[in-house]
Amino acid sequence: MDDLKAKYLSQIADAADEAALEAIRVAAVGKKGEVALKMRELGKMTPEERQVAGPALNALKDEINSALAAKKSALADAALDERLRTEWLDVTLPSRPTRQGTLHPISQVQEEITAIFAEMGFSVAEGPRIDTDWYNFDALNIPGHHPARAEMDTFYMNRAEGDNRPPHVLRTHTSPVQIRSMEKMGAPLRIICPGGVYRADYDQTHTPMFHQVEGLALDKDISMANLKWVLEEFVKSFFEVDDVELRFRASHFPFTEPSAEVDIRCSWDNGQLKIGEGDDWMEILGSGMVHPKVIAAGGIDPEVYQGFAFGIGIDRLAMLKYGIPDLRAFFDSDLRWLRHYGFSALDLPTLHGGLSR
Ligand code: PHE
Repeated sequence: MDDLKAKYLSQIADAADEAALEAIRVAAVGKKGEVALKMRELGKMTPEERQVAGPALNALKDEINSALAAKKSALADAALDERLRTEWLDVTLPSRPTRQGTLHPISQVQEEITAIFAEMGFSVAEGPRIDTDWYNFDALNIPGHHPARAEMDTFYMNRAEGDNRPPHVLRTHTSPVQIRSMEKMGAPLRIICPGGVYRADYDQTHTPMFHQVEGLALDKDISMANLKWVLEEFVKSFFEVDDVELRFRASHFPFTEPSAEVDIRCSWDNGQLKIGEGDDWMEILGSGMVHPKVIAAGGIDPEVYQGFAFGIGIDRLAMLKYGIPDLRAFFDSDLRWLRHYGFSALDLPTLHGGLSR
């Protein structure tokens, strides 16, 4: 019995895996195993012999069984350790060094503009890109047969026969958000609204979809002087220089009175767009004092509140600041262009950290 015990305990200790262990179990304590065979011999013994051999055989069987169980759980632990070792993941590794994607210059410039106006106390508002012609035109003092409707090269939404919802357009400017913001928030009010707008137009500085940022400030004593200061501060911060040359030009919009457009001095020599030099001017925004009819259309009393509004061309600001000569390339989705002009998605522009590093 001591031989059996020594043999099986050493086999168990050496077993390499569960299958080996199972083979040992069958050979030792299985139905036809060596211990069972010995138990069968009990019948041939005298009662005295049996009284000694019986309990001893049972003890041997128990001992082998518990050695098997202990080894089995040791093997399982070792297997788990091995699995943990191969599945180990070092989450402290740096991210992949190659830049996978970039922020489009429009997104970048939109963030830059938002950072500047946020600092001046403007919050960001939004409106739909498909809007009714009432929000896009009538509420902005552009009635049905006003020539401004034709000038804007509007895309009208198709209407099925019998559809009697109001006519919808792809908004031609962000100005309808002036009305929606007045309706929602009342006065006093200080908002900007960046977003896409649409006009049927296509050349080096025009694409059928482009971007504007609308601004609106309403209070009891806001004047044209405030408008001029805000726009000059904005342009200086945006271009990160003190000497951009601006031109305020008297203009006309149905929704502002008086109105002004702002141009920036630039040059286009040899296909290179440069800001602050040369004999060309690029128009970057329209602005003015909000027309009383527009304030009334937004549900606010124009006898009490007045203010200014502006609409800045985001795409043109991007062209000027980053020297990108053709607007059409912005929307071609050419990967080489996007990699060249794109920005790191992790560097969000702030006034304290730098707008464009
Ligand atoms: N909506 C005008 C345009 O798209 C710009 C503008 C906005 C002018 C606000 C004045 C005030 O041309």
